[in-house]
Amino acid sequence: MPDKKLKPPYKEEPDEFLALDYNNLTEEALGPGKGLGADDFAELKAVLAAAYKDIEAKYRKGELPFMDLPRDPDVPKAVRKLAEMGRKRFENVVVLGIGGSALGASAVFSALRPLNHNDLPPAKRGWPRLIVCDNIDPEGFSAVLEGLDLKNTYFNVISKSGATAETMSQFMIVYDQLQRTLGRSAIKEHLLITTDPEDGVLRKIADSGDFFSLPVPKGVGGRFSVLSAVGLAPLAMTGVNVTDLLAGAARAQEDARKPPAANKAYVFAGLNYLLTTAKKRNLLVMMPYSDALSRTADWFGQLWNESLGKARRLDGSPNPWAQTSVKALGVTDQHSQLQMYMEGSDEKTVCFLGADVSRHLVNIPAIFRDHEELAYLGGRSLGELFTFERLGTARALAESGRPNLSLTLPKISPATVGYLLHTLEVAAVVSGSLYGIDPLDQPGVELGKRFTYGLMGRQGYSIFKERYNKGLSLKKKYILK
Ligand code: PA5
Repeated sequence: MPDKKLKPPYKEEPDEFLALDYNNLTEEALGPGKGLGADDFAELKAVLAAAYKDIEAKYRKGELPFMDLPRDPDVPKAVRKLAEMGRKRFENVVVLGIGGSALGASAVFSALRPLNHNDLPPAKRGWPRLIVCDNIDPEGFSAVLEGLDLKNTYFNVISKSGATAETMSQFMIVYDQLQRTLGRSAIKEHLLITTDPEDGVLRKIADSGDFFSLPVPKGVGGRFSVLSAVGLAPLAMTGVNVTDLLAGAARAQEDARKPPAANKAYVFAGLNYLLTTAKKRNLLVMMPYSDALSRTADWFGQLWNESLGKARRLDGSPNPWAQTSVKALGVTDQHSQLQMYMEGSDEKTVCFLGADVSRHLVNIPAIFRDHEELAYLGGRSLGELFTFERLGTARALAESGRPNLSLTLPKISPATVGYLLHTLEVAAVVSGSLYGIDPLDQPGVELGKRFTYGLMGRQGYSIFKERYNKGLSLKKKYILK
């Protein structure tokens, strides 16, 4: 039963999919010099107009194919078919992938399936479990594999490049186990390969072995791929309504083409740009007040950090600005991190993420009425308490001169989550335009990958082993005695 709808005081008008409230970033809320004032908003208007022109031109040239994913006619059909097959046959769907090949499915699955989905008995669950293996700690990976009956398990290996050492080593282990346990000919029935449509070793393996495969669309990087086969296949197979997810995202896509003032993706990006460049707010704390949206903050962390953490601008000059996103969880981190956000180093903006209506009604019983310290709780709901903690914390931060903004879904549903994800993806690209950087590449991640190749002895990468050894000699020199 849904919780009774609360009317938060800040909401000026109802919004079908997503409300963005930034009152607590303004000078009026935070005090002169602290918050954004009339001059800042005038600048915002000008820089967003320029970004809009830039993004629209790129979109028209076909440089932002992720923006059209919500309207792809083919992949949703294919994944729905797969889901029907998987529902009848499998107990587990296991994703082998990392970064953008894993975080989107994790985020949407946690948001839209019951939080205890994997623990429910099959009849209640109705769909396979989803297990996302995005780490290669031998302890963790063995624990997952030991708990699986391979006969009932479907593996989805996801790698755009087909070269990521973590994913490919997991794939090799699983492939070998399937072969040994079920036989070579059975592998096909237990494996989906999601990779580049043309390039990479995984594509070669898919084609030469005639394995079922789906494409990571050309020009769509991992962190922008949740609404492609990368996210949709595992999500559909575990019971997420991908039709509604895409419908919400399609609505966000329409809205993201509107002029900046009426466009939440642009306003969100622009406000954070101003906070970073004019107010030296280099940290964005994404703080969901929702267990279901907790993994969405992890997904957002990758989106923001990999897109915006760039050493150079497109014109080659050094990029002086970067807004790092970190995660906190309400209310849990009110009792751990919040003290720092309220009174400590003053370089942060907090972004609250929540929903107006909880999907579960949990009443606090009206007991202990004669204890004044508890009487106010009895007869209320946990959802009310949760919402007021979020609203109260936002106000308390503002009173302490700490900027914060809120993204609020009317409720957590496939459509609103689709809308949120697409809006934030567009915001990342708009931010790239504002800072003058390329939000679609990740040269820093690539460098780390090359060191791994060198240390693992991959042909052609020995120079990275030498560079690593150079670092070791420094270590010896500076040891404290
Ligand atoms: O967003 C990105 O592009 C990265 O995080 C990648 O998703 C990640 O490095 C994994 O790459 P791949 O899908 O090629 O295995």
